[in-house]
Amino acid sequence: MTQNYLVTGSAGFIGSKVTEFLLNQGHAVTGVDNMNDAYDVRLKEWRLRRLLEKPKFTFAQSDISDKVAVRMVFASGPEYQAVINLAARAGVRQSVENPWVYVDTNITGTLNLLELCKDFGVPKFVLASTSSLYGSNNPQPFTESANTDSPLSPYAASKKAAEAFAYNYHFLYNIDVTVLRYFTVYGPAGRPDMSLFRFVKWIGEGVPVLVNGDGRQTRDFTYVDDIARGTIAGLKPVGYEIVNLGSDTPTTLTETIKIIEHLLEKKAKIVHGPIHPADVPSTWANISKAEKLFGWRPQVSIEQGLIHLVQWYRENQSWASQLST
Ligand SMILES: NC(=O)c1ccc[n+]([C@@H]2O[C@H](COP(=O)([O-])OP(=O)(O)OC[C@H]3O[C@@H](n4cnc5c(N)ncnc54)[C@H](O)[C@@H]3O)[C@@H](O)[C@H]2O)c1
Repeated sequence: MTQNYLVTGSAGFIGSKVTEFLLNQGHAVTGVDNMNDAYDVRLKEWRLRRLLEKPKFTFAQSDISDKVAVRMVFASGPEYQAVINLAARAGVRQSVENPWVYVDTNITGTLNLLELCKDFGVPKFVLASTSSLYGSNNPQPFTESANTDSPLSPYAASKKAAEAFAYNYHFLYNIDVTVLRYFTVYGPAGRPDMSLFRFVKWIGEGVPVLVNGDGRQTRDFTYVDDIARGTIAGLKPVGYEIVNLGSDTPTTLTETIKIIEHLLEKKAKIVHGPIHPADVPSTWANISKAEKLFGWRPQVSIEQGLIHLVQWYRENQSWASQLST
């Protein structure tokens, strides 16, 4: 049956993929995005153009931290079956420079959307959260019941608050909530502030490749299509659940550079820099809960995923090479 969904952050890396998949399944999507310049807006415009070609997509350029503006979107739209909140300020290191914009979007913006779900009778809320919440002290692989009381960055702290508000609105108003903790997402048209996009660009352009630390830190890199499938699976009614979406295959930065060198047939000129204290040292997801609740498992290996990313970069190199990383 065709459903109406509201996806925030729809011009973003993950939001545009989730929107594309929902539209491909025949659903109608209202996308909300404020098109901010946290990174080069050309990437957001590129993703948005592709969505605007699809007939069941409606776009509202609106800021979720603006209570009045976002209420207008709900008031003028159809009855939504769910809100998928993927809009966020998402950079770990940038959050240390300006924590306030993280509070505005990730906390106030999430609260505004929850309040509107209550007022407009939207029964389901999906919230994007992050593996950054696990910090540096939990045993790995990280399980959802781990202690998340020691966030290393304002970004992680803001997501912790968003999770708590989502729980509260579930408790008080019976809104069904799935919180998804994503583990380092990568893929075509990804964020230019993230390591794999940067490595592809830097190796591709023959410029020095900055590796913070010795390159042995690991990330549970997860391909964007797997994340989008898992996010849509998260629409299932669950009460209130927090669920990891990761690849369960931690890979070192050095290993990813080797794969990219091979795909681009170019050698990286590596320069080492200091590790940022707000960056978690390693991540690894326990994904048994996602499998049990949603029958979800990642399908794309890091090797396959990097083939798609490199191919996208080559096809779009004329403008992607100009993006600031
Ligand atoms: N990419 C990852 O590795 C990763 C990992 C963990 C969690 N997440 C979470 O997943 C979600 C999507 O991340 P992404 O990587 O696609 O980031 P992204 O920055 O590409 O997408 C977020 C989108 O939200 C929009 N946005 C930001 N503030 C807004 C506001 N106030 N009002 C309306 N729109 C606003 C941005 O313009 C952007 O297009 C975020 O919640 C992020 O915290 C991402």
